[in-house]
Amino acid sequence: MSFGVCIVVMVLVASANWAAEACPPSDRAALLAFKAALHEPYLGIFNSWTGPDCCHNWYGISCDPETRRVADINLRGESEDPIFERAHRTGYMTGYISPSICGLPRLSSVTIADWKGITGVIPRCVTSLPFLRILDLIGNRISGPIPADIGRLRRLTVLNVADNLISGPIPRSITSLTSLMHLDLRNNRISGGLPRDFGRLRMLSRALLSRNQIGGTIPPSVSSIYRLADLDLSLNRLEGPIPESLGRMAVLATLNLDGNLISGNIPATLVNSAIGNLNLSRNKLEGRIPDVFGPRSYFTVLDLSYNNLTGSIPKSISSASYIGHLDLSHNRLCGPIPAGSPFDHLEASSFIYNTCLCGKPLKPC
Ligand SMILES: *[C@@H]1O[C@H](CO)[C@@H](O)[C@H](O)[C@H]1NC(C)=O
Ligand SMILES: *[C@@H]1O[C@H](CO)[C@@H](O)[C@H](O)[C@H]1NC(C)=O
Repeated sequence: MSFGVCIVVMVLVASANWAAEACPPSDRAALLAFKAALHEPYLGIFNSWTGPDCCHNWYGISCDPETRRVADINLRGESEDPIFERAHRTGYMTGYISPSICGLPRLSSVTIADWKGITGVIPRCVTSLPFLRILDLIGNRISGPIPADIGRLRRLTVLNVADNLISGPIPRSITSLTSLMHLDLRNNRISGGLPRDFGRLRMLSRALLSRNQIGGTIPPSVSSIYRLADLDLSLNRLEGPIPESLGRMAVLATLNLDGNLISGNIPATLVNSAIGNLNLSRNKLEGRIPDVFGPRSYFTVLDLSYNNLTGSIPKSISSASYIGHLDLSHNRLCGPIPAGSPFDHLEASSFIYNTCLCGKPLKPC
């Protein structure tokens, strides 16, 4: 072999290797366009985004080892990474999320969390990323709506846009996300009602929607979500009754409906259920507290304060296994406070501002 041929062979082998290892130029170009729309002044997280291979040592980027396509964007503004220790601060970033990320067709997770200053909207085109499993944009200043066709993301397991400025309704199509396990929309400006067929979200285990402007009633279909453990609808504008079926859910452990306009009676099912954390404070509930407490009643929190509850405190409450924090204050209850172990540690503040409750820890009857 002549020297010249040898060089040609070496160059061919080297470029074949390069082609096998580097990310496709289109992925690299999409990432650089994404980066161009952001400004991160303190940590230098984007300094590593150089060189031809975006799968190699680009901060926050990982690729599928087989296809060498970009699979994850993982940029967290609060983390243990040494880059934060060196800077002695948490992250801050401005700019917006460029639609160019939609040029990364194999994306499986997008986490751009806790940068505090990122504005703009959720690019509508994210709903065309067929492999997307995680979309986590918590803790920015993102505004505008959740894309109406979010339901196209059939593989999505986590949708977290909490602590932003998202407005508009919960898209009806959301109930097509039949893989969704974790939905976190807390602390935004979301309005409108909950989809009637919310119960189609069969895999959901946490639905956290507090601190929005959600109105309408609680759809009874929620109670058909077998795995739902945590339902937080507090501090919204929900009205109407509490569906009795919520108290029959197999693993529902936390039910926060506080700070709404919910009316009607407290369903008996709720006090004798798997629920251990029940906050119904600051609603328009009326009628009596159901007298069906029993050994299955185990509450770390039972907060019924600031309602319009009448009658006496039910005798059966003494048979509850445990009540850690009880608040019955600011109602219209009357009569003696039962004695017994769940009450031994409670203070007057649990009972004040009622019509005529009496006995320890209040004044004798
Ligand atoms: C229950 O909800 C009310 C109103 O949102 C809140 O003030 C209170 O702290 C909550 N109770 C507990 C025990 O967390
Ligand atoms: C409680 O009930 C009374 C009498 O029905 C009503 O006048 C009052 O507005 C109610 N209060 C609340 C907070 O719903």
